[in-house]
Amino acid sequence: MLFKKVTSVLAVAGGVAAQRPSNMSICDYYTTALLTNNTAENQYTLLTLLVNTVVIGNYTMPNVGVAVPGILAPGTVDGEDVNLAPYFTGALASTNKGGMTGESVNFLDGGGAAPLMKNMPADDDSSNQYFLLTHLYQFFGGLLQCSQYGMGAFPAYTGDKSMYEVHKFMALDNAEVTYFITQVGLAASSFGVTEADVTAVGTALNSLFGRRCAPAVEVIPPQGAALQAICTEPDCPIADGAMCGLYDNVVEPSSVSSMAGNATMTGNMTTTMSGHATTTVVTTTDASGSVMTFTSTGMATGTTMAPTATVSTAGAAATGLSLMAVAGGIAAMLL
Ligand code: HEM
Ligand SMILES: *[C@@H]1O[C@H](CO)[C@@H](O)[C@H](O)[C@H]1NC(C)=O
Ligand SMILES: *[C@@H]1O[C@H](CO)[C@@H](O)[C@H](O)[C@H]1NC(C)=O
Ligand SMILES: *[C@@H]1O[C@H](CO)[C@@H](O)[C@H](O)[C@H]1NC(C)=O
Ligand SMILES: *[C@@H]1O[C@H](CO)[C@@H](O)[C@H](O)[C@H]1NC(C)=O
Ligand SMILES: *[C@@H]1O[C@H](CO)[C@@H](O)[C@H](O)[C@H]1NC(C)=O
Repeated sequence: MLFKKVTSVLAVAGGVAAQRPSNMSICDYYTTALLTNNTAENQYTLLTLLVNTVVIGNYTMPNVGVAVPGILAPGTVDGEDVNLAPYFTGALASTNKGGMTGESVNFLDGGGAAPLMKNMPADDDSSNQYFLLTHLYQFFGGLLQCSQYGMGAFPAYTGDKSMYEVHKFMALDNAEVTYFITQVGLAASSFGVTEADVTAVGTALNSLFGRRCAPAVEVIPPQGAALQAICTEPDCPIADGAMCGLYDNVVEPSSVSSMAGNATMTGNMTTTMSGHATTTVVTTTDASGSVMTFTSTGMATGTTMAPTATVSTAGAAATGLSLMAVAGGIAAMLL
């Protein structure tokens, strides 16, 4: 039972030994430290805990005292506002489905945050959310060198071998990629991963995916080499041995003027953040005229969230921009 495993994680989370032996991978070491038996199933559970926390923020109670906002929550990087949610909600035509420009895809179509809080990828096994989350468990399991990766209960990664191709129509900049990698680091820290190991993972992610024009490399054997730069905007640091000629010109994603499933949003969102407490109220009216109101209260960390902000939109269907704000608000509400 998954819930029981979380409890056992928490019971020992504060007791992770200080030093990882050099002959043990990060995945194997923390599986042993947190879940005791270093099995394929437990390694997959560790990756599930990690990735779900990266996506929705820390949801296990309590953790070692590190708050994780998660990639769906807006934040700031070096004073620059970042909001990744629209790339996941379908508010931006930013998904590469093989065409010349991106398409709108809702990646929160498998129940959103609720199944993630139960250590599941989705509440079904066929949604976009299901495939995204399971691919992330597998990919990061390969990256973190889980010894049971691809065996038994730990399925091998079956997604795209090129992180550039997957992310190319998102036109991600340095702040966005940095925000994502920061959430991975915070999530790991929240489970007691040492600073040295968090730094090692962050450095690897930055050099593999955060450098513009990076030459092709193999990330997940035996997939073979492919272009891996996720950071493609001009403000991204340039890679060693940059091969910009192999990358297409950056295409900015357009905002989508109607929500998936034709629920016309006439939104009325109010977000107020004072200090570290965040309250989001979202009121939407769908095409059939039914009104839904959601309220969420969460915590934000001082370093990654804007300290104070008030956003209010009325008649949000008027512009693509305010629609994005509503979509972001709904994602924040899911937390
Ligand atoms: C180090 C940074 C990152 C890594 C390692 C990473 C890794 C991945 C992986 C493995 C997938 C699944 C690909 C597949 O199923 O074929 C994926 C998909 C996705 N990523 Fe990232 N990602 C990173 C940064 C970002 C950032 C900054 C965003 C910004 C919003 C983002 C948004 C997405 C989205 C929307 C998808 C779904 C795309 C699709 O299925 O077509 N990722 N990512
Ligand atoms: C790692 O090294 C230790 C001590 O050198 C040894 O006892 C252990 O068997 C090694 N483990 C693996 C998985 O090689
Ligand atoms: C670890 O495996 C042993 C032997 O199979 C079992 O008795 C024990 O309950 C397992 N511990 C956990 C935490 O799963
Ligand atoms: C997230 O972690 C912080 C710091 O430990 C804690 O105060 C907060 O209650 C946690 N949030 C959830 C939903 O568990
Ligand atoms: C969306 O629903 C509205 C109201 O039912 C309808 O008027 C409109 O034509 C629909 N749009 C699309 C693209 O189906
Ligand atoms: C938006 O919602 C708030 C809170 O429910 C309400 O006080 C306000 O009047 C609403 N504004 C509009 C323009 O509907």
